[in-house]
Amino acid sequence: MGKHKAIITGVAGVLPDYILTNDELSQMVDTSDEWIMSRIGIKTRHILKEYGQGSSDLGAAAVRKLLEKTGTSPDEIDLVLCATVTPDHPFPATANIISDKVGIKNAFSFDINAGCSGFLYGLTTATSFIESGRAKKIILIGAEKMSSIVDYTDRATCPIFGDGAGAVLIEPTEEDLGVIDIHLQSDGIGRHHLHQKAGGSVHPASAETVSNREHFIYQEGQPVFKWAVSKMADTAVDIMKRNGLTSETVDWLVPHQANMRIIEATAHRMDLPKEKVMINISKYGNTTAATLPLCLMDYEKQLRKGDNIILATFGAGFTWGAAYLKWAYDGK
Ligand code: UT7
Repeated sequence: MGKHKAIITGVAGVLPDYILTNDELSQMVDTSDEWIMSRIGIKTRHILKEYGQGSSDLGAAAVRKLLEKTGTSPDEIDLVLCATVTPDHPFPATANIISDKVGIKNAFSFDINAGCSGFLYGLTTATSFIESGRAKKIILIGAEKMSSIVDYTDRATCPIFGDGAGAVLIEPTEEDLGVIDIHLQSDGIGRHHLHQKAGGSVHPASAETVSNREHFIYQEGQPVFKWAVSKMADTAVDIMKRNGLTSETVDWLVPHQANMRIIEATAHRMDLPKEKVMINISKYGNTTAATLPLCLMDYEKQLRKGDNIILATFGAGFTWGAAYLKWAYDGK
């Protein structure tokens, strides 16, 4: 079983209906379309407005589409992984809830919390289960209701994030395709710059934590930006080099969608033209663990079997990494 490689055999995603524009944000905080476009590159983001709905509803909708599209029965799935920083509840895992909502009964499931790098961490986990032979059909989801932890009175963070979910089906193959190499890293020193202060075991929810607005995202933009630019580019370039890839032989870069300037800096370091970079940040904003599968969804039709793809990411933790995979099917 060890000779099997892990391939993505399908991708699907969902965005909630409500679209929050820069003009609407400009009525909520002191900002402008011009500032947001020039400093971040986001025009719109989708927001899940329905009361009582959470990340699992987005994740379940993405999984239903994925199962239908790939002609897969829920009974065939043996592992469900959900990458999220906005779980429905601190426990149980959102992956458990999604599995229940879509009727997956023969699987085990758990969440992965690695900030914006969650999908890549999940891909690594799924790859290990496939390569070891312990699982044959895995669903990996990135699902976020970022609007549940965004402070819409904080102009430094509220333009950035959006809600959404993407899901991929991962299966074994004996062909020379799929996940070839992954490099992940983390450094907890980054926790000081990007975190949610309250609601965990250190500062459980209280009237005080609520009145201090400590259940929202806290981000020091500049240090996070500097780390993101250097780490995302470093690992992406490193994984290219150690696999003998060049800017000619890389077909696609799938970068985390946090800031257009970070994406451009990474592509520049890899010497890649813009046409080879998957970019949808202007439409969806930063959907944290969902950015990579939502990129794959948007660009799926352009992908060809054997395409050399580099995924690269950076997020809270800090966590970061890059993966090299050979795409397994012609987009349709
Ligand atoms: O995905 C997880 C990882 N996260 C990231 O990768 C995010 C990394 N960081 C960033 O993308 C950028 O740092 C931000 C987009 C968050 C901020 O952009 P920046 O260019 O670093 O802005 P800044 O924080 O240095 O602020 C520059 C100025 C400040 O005004 P003063 O002090 O120079 O007068 C801010 O108050 O821009 C001001 N500012 C705004 N102005 C208008 C901050 N937010 C806004 C805003 N509209 N929304």
